[in-house]
Amino acid sequence: MISRRSFLALAAGGAAAASAGELRHAWSARPQRRINPAATSVVRSKAGLLKLDLVAQEMPISIPGTSRRALTYNGLLPGPQLELEPGDLVQLELHNRLKNPTNLHFHGLHIPPNGTADNVFLRVTPGQKQSYSFTLPDNHPAGLFYYHPHHHGTVADQVFGGLGGALLVRGELDRIPEVQAAQEEVLVLKDLLAANEGSGSGVMLGREGSILSVNGQVNPELQVAAGGLLRLRLLNASNARFWRLALEGHTMHLIATDGGALEQPVPLQELLLVPGERADVLVQVAPEGGRFRLNNLPYKRLGRPGMGMRRPVTDQHQADIVATVSTNGAVTPQPLPQRLLRVEEISSPVRTRRFVMNHGMVPSMGMAFLINGERYSHARIDTRVRLGETEDWELVNTGVMDHPFHLHVNPMQVISRNGRPEPYRAWRDVVLVRSGETVRVRTRFNDFAGKSVYHCHIFDHEDLGMMGNILIEA
Ligand code: C2O
Ligand code: CU
Ligand code: CU
Repeated sequence: MISRRSFLALAAGGAAAASAGELRHAWSARPQRRINPAATSVVRSKAGLLKLDLVAQEMPISIPGTSRRALTYNGLLPGPQLELEPGDLVQLELHNRLKNPTNLHFHGLHIPPNGTADNVFLRVTPGQKQSYSFTLPDNHPAGLFYYHPHHHGTVADQVFGGLGGALLVRGELDRIPEVQAAQEEVLVLKDLLAANEGSGSGVMLGREGSILSVNGQVNPELQVAAGGLLRLRLLNASNARFWRLALEGHTMHLIATDGGALEQPVPLQELLLVPGERADVLVQVAPEGGRFRLNNLPYKRLGRPGMGMRRPVTDQHQADIVATVSTNGAVTPQPLPQRLLRVEEISSPVRTRRFVMNHGMVPSMGMAFLINGERYSHARIDTRVRLGETEDWELVNTGVMDHPFHLHVNPMQVISRNGRPEPYRAWRDVVLVRSGETVRVRTRFNDFAGKSVYHCHIFDHEDLGMMGNILIEA
């Protein structure tokens, strides 16, 4: 018989134990327990240095409804939350105790793409270790970023298997008084396979699991004061799942996207987060108090039927509960900030390039995922750009599935979608390109020369070839 005790959020990670009575089955509509990331799982830089060993290893976990083993960093799912400040030196030692090669990527950080910084071409074989070392620029924007493995060919298995963690950069946004007054909760969203689920939906669409976890818990409870401001910092750490979130009875006010603050809050009734994407939202908690479900609404990632593919797991009609917000006490209703930070307008692109995404048959390889008709090759440079130049990229999805396009090192601004101008300026590093859609983005190749990549952030698609090499030349 399985005891309720074994449903502890994190067996191996030593997270704070909750009493058995607070723990529920995954499929229960009742909250599992309060969100309270164990102190040991947050690692902050001290005196300008963040130094940490990260051990990638399969470990037992106790997330209700799952098959109870997962790939972890330091025994944790998600991995420890890293907190940095601009100018910090980061020194990580990655130990590979997995069965396959791995490495580390610092998704969204503006740091060099080579050496021992954000170098996704490093290969750390099983049993080996690798040092990573870089300095975060002094002017790095504050935001929520993401570390995860990035060894081409094993990424999807490793992220779907559990690897990944949040990386916070503190800064100006956090010092806006209303933002500072809010109760901050970092929510790492990851779907996991249920114990009886086999390997999940197919790699063609991108694998999803039916267990929705938040910081390694199922339907955790967030306690907030009625009338207070709640700051939810959300990271989609899933392999393929799109999270479409809505909080019962509340409007969410978006204050930051992937690359940092907006100019002013944008009210949203629902928030779509694609894999790799982050959002920072403020919620004015109802003064009358109560219990409110944070729901995940259905989303169809397949534009048109056909191709004999399985129905995506998200193609269902009923909302799933992600977490429960419940009030405890009350405060005088807190105001929203009126203005946030300036978002630089980048102009005068020197050229426009086109990237066409689709899948197709490749001779001798079978089905592959392609950018401009080509499957990823380590040996080829697909795109050469000049350091300091601004370019427009036209991202065209001619296929039947949605593809979230991701660029390393430099963030992008969406200019238009299908010719319609984007309503507000925002820095993004993942941009959803829906089936049949053309999205124009603009980026400037600042500060760092070197070779890096862009790819679909559905990792099954990336591993199946939907990636290109970019060389930024000084
Ligand atoms: Cu989050 Cu190249 O990936
Ligand atoms: Cu990335
Ligand atoms: Cu894709």
